[in-house]
Amino acid sequence: DRQPIVAIDGPAGAGKSTVARLVAQTLGLVYLDTGAMYRALTWLVMQSGIAIDDEPAIAELVSQCQIEFREQGTGNKDQEGKDLNSKLKTQNSKLKTQNSKLKTSTPSLASSAIFVNGQEVTQAIRSLEVTSQVSAIAAQPAVRWALVRQQQLYGKHGGIVIEGRDIGTNVFPDAELKIFLTASVQERARRRQRDLQDQGIGDVNLGKLEQSIYDRDRKDSTRSLAPLCKADDAIELITDGLTIQAVIDQIVERYNATI
Ligand code: C5P
Repeated sequence: DRQPIVAIDGPAGAGKSTVARLVAQTLGLVYLDTGAMYRALTWLVMQSGIAIDDEPAIAELVSQCQIEFREQGTGNKDQEGKDLNSKLKTQNSKLKTQNSKLKTSTPSLASSAIFVNGQEVTQAIRSLEVTSQVSAIAAQPAVRWALVRQQQLYGKHGGIVIEGRDIGTNVFPDAELKIFLTASVQERARRRQRDLQDQGIGDVNLGKLEQSIYDRDRKDSTRSLAPLCKADDAIELITDGLTIQAVIDQIVERYNATI
């Protein structure tokens, strides 16, 4: 007996995070970015000086590491520092006020910070170094076992939009709505380039971005454990040429038709 689950999967840079966050806000659901969890662990591995292929050491590290999402910047003592589990517990009461809250830009997990072993890594996990190593770590059995279990625990009462690579196929195969979000490599690289420009990181070569997106997708879709792939019952949305709002509208429409 749980609330509905929306699973959003797809390749790197397809806009899953933006879309999933806004769909969650629109529907009054909790949002979980599972890629951030693999990134946080990758940051910790690099920080600890453990080699990327030292599977036993990484298995030991993941068994002891604590990854948490906390809300930030609300200026509201009651909200600040709440983790995802307590957020889920209070979700029902929050649902009622969600619509009015949206307009006043009250942050939800949408603007959550991520902590690993008590240290904030929200920005650090987006670095090029972490991005280039994360797929190798996410392919390791001990890592997937631990993080998938944590994700299933987070989502066990439902009422969540959860985004990643294997949500519809592996983490929540019984999700009520499964979306597979894609776009051409060229389109994804152009969006990424625009994001980097907006962040003031400057002009990153488009060809290099295409190559790194292509490489990460290849690693994620050819690994033996829970590879990136569309679930049989997922709806594929190809977002080339679509606005973010158009994509959100399509998902919300499907949700309302399904639930
Ligand atoms: O979504 P994001 O690009 O932040 O994900 C980073 C990496 O984490 C992916 O390239 C993939 O290797 C891994 N990942 C995964 N399973 C998920 C989510 C992310 O293996 N459900």
